[in-house]
Amino acid sequence: MSTILLAITGWEPEAWLSRFRTFGKKHTVRTVAEIGDPAEIEYVCAWKPPAGLLAKLPKLKAIFSLGAGVDHLMNDPSLPNVPVVRIVDPDLTKRMCEYVVLHCLLHQRKMKLYGEQQAQKIWHEHPERPAGEVRVGILGMGVLGQAAAAALAPVGFRITGWSRSRKSVPGIETFGGEAELPKFLGQTDILVSLLPLTPATRGMLNYAFFQKLARDGVLGGPVLVNAGRGGLQVETDILRALDEGTLIGASLDVFEKEPLPQDSPLWSHPKIFVTPHNAAQSDPEALTKYVLGQIEAFERGEPLRNVVDRKLGY
Ligand code: NDP
Ligand code: OXD
Repeated sequence: MSTILLAITGWEPEAWLSRFRTFGKKHTVRTVAEIGDPAEIEYVCAWKPPAGLLAKLPKLKAIFSLGAGVDHLMNDPSLPNVPVVRIVDPDLTKRMCEYVVLHCLLHQRKMKLYGEQQAQKIWHEHPERPAGEVRVGILGMGVLGQAAAAALAPVGFRITGWSRSRKSVPGIETFGGEAELPKFLGQTDILVSLLPLTPATRGMLNYAFFQKLARDGVLGGPVLVNAGRGGLQVETDILRALDEGTLIGASLDVFEKEPLPQDSPLWSHPKIFVTPHNAAQSDPEALTKYVLGQIEAFERGEPLRNVVDRKLGY
Protein backbone atom coordinates (compact mmCIF):
# COMPACT_ATOMS: atom_id res chain seq x y z
CA MET A 1 0.00 0.00 0.00
CA SER A 2 1.33 3.45 -0.94
CA THR A 3 0.37 7.02 -0.11
CA ILE A 4 -0.38 8.99 -3.26
CA LEU A 5 -1.01 12.72 -3.58
CA LEU A 6 -3.07 14.13 -6.44
CA ALA A 7 -1.88 17.66 -7.20
CA ILE A 8 -3.97 19.02 -10.08
CA THR A 9 -4.78 22.55 -11.14
CA GLY A 10 -6.52 23.70 -14.33
CA TRP A 11 -8.44 20.40 -14.73
CA GLU A 12 -11.42 19.17 -12.70
CA PRO A 13 -9.73 17.09 -9.94
CA GLU A 14 -12.91 15.13 -9.01
CA ALA A 15 -12.78 12.84 -12.06
CA TRP A 16 -9.22 11.86 -11.16
CA LEU A 17 -9.86 11.47 -7.46
CA SER A 18 -12.80 9.14 -8.01
CA ARG A 19 -10.76 6.97 -10.44
CA PHE A 20 -7.77 6.79 -8.09
CA ARG A 21 -10.06 5.83 -5.21
CA THR A 22 -11.91 3.25 -7.33
CA PHE A 23 -8.91 1.56 -8.95
CA GLY A 24 -6.43 2.16 -6.12
CA LYS A 25 -8.47 0.96 -3.15
CA LYS A 26 -5.46 -0.51 -1.41
CA HIS A 27 -3.64 2.84 -1.51
CA THR A 28 -4.18 6.03 0.47
CA VAL A 29 -5.06 8.77 -1.99
CA ARG A 30 -4.91 12.39 -0.81
CA THR A 31 -5.49 15.80 -2.33
CA VAL A 32 -3.52 19.00 -1.79
CA ALA A 33 -6.38 20.39 0.30
CA GLU A 34 -6.24 17.32 2.58
CA ILE A 35 -2.59 16.43 2.34
CA GLY A 36 -2.16 15.26 5.95
CA ASP A 37 1.44 14.67 6.99
CA PRO A 38 3.66 15.60 3.98
CA ALA A 39 6.25 13.06 5.20
CA GLU A 40 3.80 10.25 4.39
CA ILE A 41 3.49 11.09 0.69
CA GLU A 42 5.40 8.59 -1.49
CA TYR A 43 4.08 9.38 -4.98
CA VAL A 44 2.64 12.49 -6.58
CA CYS A 45 0.39 12.46 -9.64
CA ALA A 46 0.41 15.99 -10.96
CA TRP A 47 -0.84 18.43 -13.54
CA LYS A 48 0.53 21.93 -12.89
CA PRO A 49 1.06 21.34 -9.15
CA PRO A 50 1.27 24.37 -6.83
CA ALA A 51 4.77 25.92 -7.06
CA GLY A 52 7.20 24.60 -4.47
CA LEU A 53 4.84 21.89 -3.15
CA LEU A 54 6.87 18.91 -4.37
CA ALA A 55 10.02 20.08 -2.56
CA LYS A 56 8.14 19.80 0.75
CA LEU A 57 7.63 16.02 0.49
CA PRO A 58 10.70 14.40 2.11
CA LYS A 59 9.75 10.76 1.39
CA LEU A 60 8.76 11.25 -2.26
CA LYS A 61 9.79 8.30 -4.48
CA ALA A 62 8.50 9.45 -7.91
CA ILE A 63 6.40 12.07 -9.65
CA PHE A 64 3.89 11.12 -12.36
CA SER A 65 2.88 13.77 -14.86
CA LEU A 66 -0.80 13.35 -15.74
CA GLY A 67 -0.05 14.80 -19.18
CA ALA A 68 2.37 13.63 -21.83
CA GLY A 69 4.18 16.96 -21.62
CA VAL A 70 6.28 17.55 -18.50
CA ASP A 71 7.20 21.21 -18.91
CA HIS A 72 4.66 22.01 -16.16
CA LEU A 73 7.00 20.15 -13.76
CA MET A 74 10.39 20.97 -15.27
CA ASN A 75 9.82 24.70 -14.86
CA ASP A 76 9.83 24.30 -11.05
CA PRO A 77 13.35 25.22 -9.86
CA SER A 78 12.75 23.34 -6.61
CA LEU A 79 11.69 20.08 -8.32
CA PRO A 80 13.04 17.29 -6.08
CA ASN A 81 15.58 14.86 -7.47
CA VAL A 82 13.29 11.83 -7.89
CA PRO A 83 12.24 10.16 -11.15
CA VAL A 84 9.64 12.05 -13.20
CA VAL A 85 7.43 9.77 -15.27
CA ARG A 86 5.39 10.91 -18.26
CA ILE A 87 2.28 9.53 -19.86
CA VAL A 88 2.60 7.15 -22.76
CA ASP A 89 -0.85 5.79 -23.39
CA PRO A 90 -2.47 4.26 -26.49
CA ASP A 91 -5.74 6.15 -25.93
CA LEU A 92 -3.98 9.53 -25.76
CA THR A 93 -1.81 8.63 -28.76
CA LYS A 94 -4.89 7.71 -30.84
CA ARG A 95 -6.55 10.99 -30.00
CA MET A 96 -3.47 12.92 -31.13
CA CYS A 97 -3.40 10.95 -34.38
CA GLU A 98 -7.05 11.91 -35.01
CA TYR A 99 -6.21 15.58 -34.48
CA VAL A 100 -3.21 15.52 -36.80
CA VAL A 101 -5.00 13.68 -39.63
CA LEU A 102 -8.05 15.93 -39.26
CA HIS A 103 -6.07 19.16 -39.41
CA CYS A 104 -3.84 18.11 -42.30
CA LEU A 105 -7.00 17.29 -44.24
CA LEU A 106 -8.71 20.54 -43.22
CA HIS A 107 -5.87 22.49 -44.81
CA GLN A 108 -5.36 20.23 -47.81
CA ARG A 109 -9.13 20.46 -48.55
CA LYS A 110 -9.23 24.27 -47.97
CA MET A 111 -11.91 23.98 -45.31
CA LYS A 112 -11.41 27.52 -43.96
CA LEU A 113 -12.27 28.83 -47.41
CA TYR A 114 -15.33 26.60 -47.76
CA GLY A 115 -16.47 27.60 -44.26
CA GLU A 116 -16.39 31.26 -45.30
CA GLN A 117 -18.21 30.44 -48.53
CA GLN A 118 -20.90 28.56 -46.62
CA ALA A 119 -21.41 31.56 -44.31
CA GLN A 120 -22.01 33.67 -47.43
CA LYS A 121 -23.99 30.97 -49.32
CA ILE A 122 -21.41 30.88 -52.12
CA TRP A 123 -21.46 27.74 -54.32
CA HIS A 124 -17.98 27.69 -55.82
CA GLU A 125 -15.43 24.91 -56.28
CA HIS A 126 -11.67 25.52 -56.07
CA PRO A 127 -9.04 23.34 -57.76
CA GLU A 128 -7.74 20.74 -55.31
CA ARG A 129 -4.60 18.62 -55.20
CA PRO A 130 -4.62 15.13 -53.71
CA ALA A 131 -2.95 14.30 -50.38
CA GLY A 132 -0.28 12.40 -52.29
CA GLU A 133 1.07 15.73 -53.56
CA VAL A 134 1.18 17.38 -50.12
CA ARG A 135 4.34 17.10 -48.02
CA VAL A 136 3.74 16.86 -44.26
CA GLY A 137 6.80 17.39 -42.06
CA ILE A 138 6.56 16.26 -38.45
CA LEU A 139 8.68 18.11 -35.90
CA GLY A 140 9.35 15.66 -33.08
CA MET A 141 9.44 11.98 -33.97
CA GLY A 142 8.76 10.64 -30.50
CA VAL A 143 5.80 8.53 -29.40
CA LEU A 144 3.22 10.95 -30.81
CA GLY A 145 5.18 12.04 -33.89
CA GLN A 146 5.80 8.49 -35.06
CA ALA A 147 2.19 7.49 -34.41
CA ALA A 148 0.94 10.55 -36.31
CA ALA A 149 3.20 9.64 -39.24
CA ALA A 150 1.75 6.13 -39.28
CA ALA A 151 -1.81 7.53 -39.19
CA LEU A 152 -1.15 10.02 -42.02
CA ALA A 153 0.46 7.49 -44.34
CA PRO A 154 -2.72 5.63 -45.41
CA VAL A 155 -4.36 8.95 -46.32
CA GLY A 156 -1.57 9.33 -48.85
CA PHE A 157 0.36 12.36 -47.53
CA ARG A 158 4.10 12.45 -48.25
CA ILE A 159 5.64 12.37 -44.80
CA THR A 160 8.99 13.40 -43.40
CA GLY A 161 10.07 13.68 -39.78
CA TRP A 162 12.67 15.62 -37.81
CA SER A 163 13.94 15.03 -34.29
CA ARG A 164 17.05 15.60 -32.18
CA SER A 165 18.36 12.17 -33.10
CA ARG A 166 17.43 10.83 -36.55
CA LYS A 167 14.92 7.96 -36.44
CA SER A 168 14.70 5.02 -38.76
CA VAL A 169 11.05 4.68 -39.78
CA PRO A 170 10.17 2.51 -42.79
CA GLY A 171 8.72 4.51 -45.67
CA ILE A 172 9.47 7.91 -44.12
CA GLU A 173 12.38 10.22 -44.86
CA THR A 174 13.78 11.31 -41.52
CA PHE A 175 16.14 14.09 -40.48
CA GLY A 176 18.07 14.64 -37.27
CA GLY A 177 19.56 17.62 -35.46
CA GLU A 178 20.07 21.28 -36.29
CA ALA A 179 22.25 20.57 -39.34
CA GLU A 180 19.45 18.73 -41.15
CA LEU A 181 16.66 21.12 -40.18
CA PRO A 182 16.90 23.50 -43.19
CA LYS A 183 16.58 20.61 -45.67
CA PHE A 184 13.58 19.23 -43.76
CA LEU A 185 11.84 22.61 -43.64
CA GLY A 186 12.60 23.32 -47.30
CA GLN A 187 10.50 20.35 -48.36
CA THR A 188 7.58 20.80 -45.94
CA ASP A 189 4.13 22.10 -46.94
CA ILE A 190 2.30 21.29 -43.70
CA LEU A 191 4.50 21.52 -40.61
CA VAL A 192 3.12 19.49 -37.69
CA SER A 193 4.75 20.35 -34.39
CA LEU A 194 4.75 17.60 -31.76
CA LEU A 195 7.80 18.77 -29.87
CA PRO A 196 8.05 19.08 -26.09
CA LEU A 197 8.69 22.49 -24.56
CA THR A 198 12.27 22.68 -23.30
CA PRO A 199 14.90 25.43 -23.16
CA ALA A 200 16.07 24.20 -26.60
CA THR A 201 12.64 24.38 -28.26
CA ARG A 202 11.13 27.50 -26.66
CA GLY A 203 10.23 30.10 -29.29
CA MET A 204 11.38 27.86 -32.14
CA LEU A 205 8.24 28.43 -34.25
CA ASN A 206 9.09 31.98 -35.20
CA TYR A 207 9.12 34.12 -38.32
CA ALA A 208 12.64 33.16 -39.44
CA PHE A 209 11.68 29.50 -39.06
CA PHE A 210 8.51 29.93 -41.17
CA GLN A 211 10.56 31.59 -43.91
CA LYS A 212 12.52 28.35 -44.33
CA LEU A 213 9.41 26.30 -45.20
CA ALA A 214 8.75 25.21 -48.80
CA ARG A 215 7.30 27.82 -51.16
CA ASP A 216 6.89 25.50 -54.13
CA GLY A 217 4.14 23.21 -52.79
CA VAL A 218 0.72 22.52 -54.28
CA LEU A 219 -1.10 24.30 -51.44
CA GLY A 220 0.32 27.66 -52.53
CA GLY A 221 2.28 28.19 -49.31
CA PRO A 222 3.11 26.51 -46.02
CA VAL A 223 0.81 25.70 -43.12
CA LEU A 224 1.60 25.39 -39.39
CA VAL A 225 -0.11 22.85 -37.12
CA ASN A 226 1.06 23.13 -33.50
CA ALA A 227 -0.19 20.58 -30.97
CA GLY A 228 3.09 20.44 -29.02
CA ARG A 229 3.20 23.38 -26.63
CA GLY A 230 2.32 27.06 -26.86
CA GLY A 231 5.76 28.08 -25.62
CA LEU A 232 7.22 26.75 -28.87
CA GLN A 233 5.45 29.44 -30.88
CA VAL A 234 5.80 33.20 -31.20
CA GLU A 235 2.22 34.28 -31.77
CA THR A 236 3.01 37.75 -33.12
CA ASP A 237 5.24 36.05 -35.72
CA ILE A 238 2.46 33.63 -36.71
CA LEU A 239 0.10 36.57 -37.28
CA ARG A 240 2.70 38.47 -39.28
CA ALA A 241 3.52 35.37 -41.37
CA LEU A 242 -0.18 34.73 -42.08
CA ASP A 243 -0.94 38.32 -42.91
CA GLU A 244 1.85 38.59 -45.44
CA GLY A 245 1.56 35.07 -46.90
CA THR A 246 4.68 33.47 -45.42
CA LEU A 247 2.15 31.01 -43.96
CA ILE A 248 -1.22 30.38 -45.62
CA GLY A 249 -2.95 28.72 -42.67
CA ALA A 250 -2.52 27.44 -39.15
CA SER A 251 -4.10 25.08 -36.65
CA LEU A 252 -3.21 25.95 -33.09
CA ASP A 253 -4.18 23.74 -30.16
CA VAL A 254 -1.72 25.24 -27.69
CA PHE A 255 -0.89 28.85 -26.84
CA GLU A 256 1.69 31.07 -25.16
CA LYS A 257 -0.97 31.77 -22.52
CA GLU A 258 -3.78 29.32 -21.75
CA PRO A 259 -6.70 29.73 -21.73
CA LEU A 260 -6.19 31.90 -24.83
CA PRO A 261 -7.05 35.45 -23.69
CA GLN A 262 -10.37 36.83 -24.96
CA ASP A 263 -8.63 39.72 -26.69
CA SER A 264 -6.19 37.54 -28.65
CA PRO A 265 -6.42 38.22 -32.40
CA LEU A 266 -5.83 34.50 -32.98
CA TRP A 267 -9.49 33.77 -32.05
CA SER A 268 -10.96 35.53 -35.05
CA HIS A 269 -8.20 35.21 -37.62
CA PRO A 270 -9.73 33.87 -40.86
CA LYS A 271 -6.79 31.53 -41.52
CA ILE A 272 -6.49 29.93 -38.07
CA PHE A 273 -8.26 26.96 -36.51
CA VAL A 274 -8.19 27.40 -32.72
CA THR A 275 -8.83 24.50 -30.31
CA PRO A 276 -8.55 24.62 -26.49
CA HIS A 277 -5.52 22.36 -25.85
CA ASN A 278 -7.63 19.28 -26.49
CA ALA A 279 -5.76 17.68 -29.40
CA ALA A 280 -5.32 14.65 -27.15
CA GLN A 281 -7.25 14.76 -23.92
CA SER A 282 -6.01 12.79 -20.93
CA ASP A 283 -8.61 10.12 -20.13
CA PRO A 284 -8.71 9.85 -16.30
CA GLU A 285 -9.64 6.16 -16.30
CA ALA A 286 -6.95 4.99 -18.73
CA LEU A 287 -4.28 7.14 -17.15
CA THR A 288 -5.16 6.25 -13.55
CA LYS A 289 -4.72 2.58 -14.42
CA TYR A 290 -1.39 3.38 -16.12
CA VAL A 291 -0.06 5.28 -13.09
CA LEU A 292 -1.26 2.75 -10.51
CA GLY A 293 0.20 -0.07 -12.61
CA GLN A 294 3.57 1.69 -12.61
CA ILE A 295 3.50 2.37 -8.85
CA GLU A 296 2.62 -1.23 -8.05
CA ALA A 297 5.33 -2.58 -10.40
CA PHE A 298 7.89 -0.19 -8.87
CA GLU A 299 6.95 -1.33 -5.36
CA ARG A 300 7.59 -4.93 -6.53
CA GLY A 301 11.08 -3.86 -7.55
CA GLU A 302 10.55 -3.34 -11.28
CA PRO A 303 11.97 -0.26 -13.03
CA LEU A 304 9.74 2.71 -13.85
CA ARG A 305 8.93 3.17 -17.55
CA ASN A 306 8.87 6.43 -19.53
CA VAL A 307 11.11 8.29 -17.13
CA VAL A 308 12.00 11.83 -18.21
CA ASP A 309 15.61 12.73 -18.95
CA ARG A 310 16.10 15.62 -16.52
CA LYS A 311 19.01 17.09 -18.52
CA LEU A 312 17.04 17.18 -21.79
CA GLY A 313 13.80 18.23 -20.08
CA TYR A 314 11.50 15.66 -21.76
P1 NDP B 1 8.44 12.17 -26.85
O1 NDP B 1 9.36 12.49 -25.73
O2 NDP B 1 8.12 10.74 -27.12
O3 NDP B 1 8.98 12.77 -28.21
C1 NDP B 1 9.55 14.04 -28.28
C2 NDP B 1 10.22 14.19 -29.62
O4 NDP B 1 10.71 15.52 -29.75
C3 NDP B 1 11.43 13.25 -29.80
O5 NDP B 1 11.47 12.75 -31.11
C4 NDP B 1 12.61 14.17 -29.54
O6 NDP B 1 13.80 13.83 -30.20
C5 NDP B 1 12.09 15.45 -30.13
N1 NDP B 1 12.81 16.62 -29.58
C6 NDP B 1 12.87 17.05 -28.31
N2 NDP B 1 13.66 18.14 -28.22
C7 NDP B 1 14.12 18.36 -29.46
C8 NDP B 1 14.98 19.33 -30.00
N3 NDP B 1 15.55 20.30 -29.27
N4 NDP B 1 15.23 19.28 -31.33
C9 NDP B 1 14.68 18.31 -32.08
N5 NDP B 1 13.87 17.35 -31.63
C10 NDP B 1 13.59 17.39 -30.33
O7 NDP B 1 7.11 12.98 -26.57
P2 NDP B 1 5.64 12.68 -27.08
O8 NDP B 1 5.70 12.38 -28.53
O9 NDP B 1 4.96 11.73 -26.19
O10 NDP B 1 4.94 14.09 -26.83
C11 NDP B 1 5.42 15.27 -27.48
C12 NDP B 1 4.75 16.50 -26.90
O11 NDP B 1 3.38 16.57 -27.31
C13 NDP B 1 4.64 16.55 -25.37
O12 NDP B 1 5.86 16.93 -24.78
C14 NDP B 1 3.55 17.58 -25.17
O13 NDP B 1 4.14 18.86 -25.06
C15 NDP B 1 2.72 17.48 -26.43
N6 NDP B 1 1.37 16.98 -26.16
C16 NDP B 1 0.30 17.79 -26.45
C17 NDP B 1 -0.98 17.36 -26.22
C18 NDP B 1 -2.14 18.18 -26.61
O14 NDP B 1 -3.28 17.83 -26.29
N7 NDP B 1 -1.95 19.27 -27.33
C19 NDP B 1 -1.25 16.05 -25.64
C20 NDP B 1 -0.07 15.27 -25.40
C21 NDP B 1 1.20 15.74 -25.64
P3 NDP B 1 14.58 12.45 -29.86
O15 NDP B 1 13.67 11.37 -30.39
O16 NDP B 1 15.85 12.54 -30.58
O17 NDP B 1 14.71 12.40 -28.37
C1 OXD C 1 -0.44 17.29 -22.58
C2 OXD C 1 -1.51 16.38 -22.33
O1 OXD C 1 0.70 17.01 -22.22
O2 OXD C 1 -2.68 16.83 -22.36
O3 OXD C 1 -0.70 18.34 -23.18
O4 OXD C 1 -1.26 15.19 -22.14
